[in-house]
Parts: sequence; C-alpha cells; structure tokens
Amino acid sequence: MSPIEALLSRVSIPRVSEPGVSAEELDLLLRAGLRACDHGRLRPYRFILLENEARERLGEAMSEYLHGDLVDVSEDAIDAAKNKALRAPTLLAVIFSPKDNDKIPESEQLVAAGCSAQLIVTAAHMLGLGAMWRTGNVAYSGEVSRALELQDHEQVVAMIYLGRPVSERPAPPDLDPEAFLTRL
Ligand SMILES: Cc1cc2nc3c(=O)[nH]c(=O)nc-3n(C[C@H](O)[C@H](O)[C@H](O)COP(=O)(O)O)c2cc1C
Repeated sequence: MSPIEALLSRVSIPRVSEPGVSAEELDLLLRAGLRACDHGRLRPYRFILLENEARERLGEAMSEYLHGDLVDVSEDAIDAAKNKALRAPTLLAVIFSPKDNDKIPESEQLVAAGCSAQLIVTAAHMLGLGAMWRTGNVAYSGEVSRALELQDHEQVVAMIYLGRPVSERPAPPDLDPEAFLTRL
C-alpha cells in the first residue's frame, strides 16, 4: 500500500484487543505526533501513556465524574463507567500544554495539539494498529485531569485508544471532495 493509499484508508477502530502498543511502535507514534505543523515550533502539547493499572485508575476517575454525586447508581453502571478506560490495552493521552507567547495565540497552539493527535492516529493506522480518538465531557473533567496529574493550564485534547483491530477494517466513507471545495 502506498503512503497516500494508507492515508486515505484510515478509519477509526473502536474495538481493539491485546497486545498493546510495543516500545518500538510507541516510539514511532510519538515521533509522528512530534511532526505536527506547529507555529513557532512551541510544541504546545505532551503525551501520557496509560497501560495496566493506570487505565484502571483512569476508569475510576471516569466513573467518579459520571456517577460520583448520584445516589442509587447500580453496580453495573459503575462497572460500565470504570470499564470505559479498559476498552483498549494502550491509551495515549494528548495533552494541550499551551506556552506563553506574544505572537502565537492559544487557539493556534490548540490546533497544533490537535494536529499532533491526528498524526498519531494516522501513524497507528499505517502501522496496522487500531486507533480511536475519544473525549467527551468526562475527558475534560476535574476527576480525569487529576488522575492524569495535569497542571492547571493543561487540558486533554485526545484520549487515543490503541490496540490490535478485532475485525477487518471497514471502508472509509466515500465522500466527494468537490462538495467541500469552493473555487474562487
Ligand atoms: C476532538 C475529537 C473528539 C472526539 N471524541 C469522540 C468521542 O468521545 N467518542 C466517539 O465515539 N468519537 C469521538 N471522536 C470521533 C472519532 O474519533 C472518529 O473520528 C469518528 O467516529 C469518525 O470515524 P472515522 O475516524 O473512521 O472517520 C472524536 C474526534 C475528535 C476530532
């Protein structure tokens, strides 16, 4: 498969299994993330790897956010929330970590962090891994921020769930590029 074919065939893979990402694969994913376009090369992001018990601690934080104040929550609902973090053997969080800069606004820095996450997801696909970018309000919650030990000025951009695809990759949607293009 040529690089452009690999790029165009990327799809999210919600269901993945063990084994998780190897050390060599992780190195390539991080290198890909560090090749994001980035005004001023500020690198306004960093990555957090969660495996094994770290995923369980994240799941507890997610459950705490989703059900913490509620009474009458069933054990099943609590377990389901905890298990959300266990949907993949490897989780890679992309964290927006803006830098003070007079010329480059935070909005541009956030875009750079998003580009970094996209490159990681794309590289994962190219390596034959399954990857899915997930967030939701829970990812921006204080509970999850604390579990990830974020600083006050930081926030989650992506929780990338990674592993081996459990089924064949679906075809990507067949979109007409011209429908998204304006010619002036
Ligand atoms: C910032 C961001 C946050 C996302 N959060 C979620 C999420 O929480 N849950 C989800 O199912 N998909 C989420 N997605 C979308 C999926 O990662 C995926 O791109 C989407 O399902 C479309 O599938 P595709 O990538 O195969 O085209 C998010 C995407 C982005 C860019």
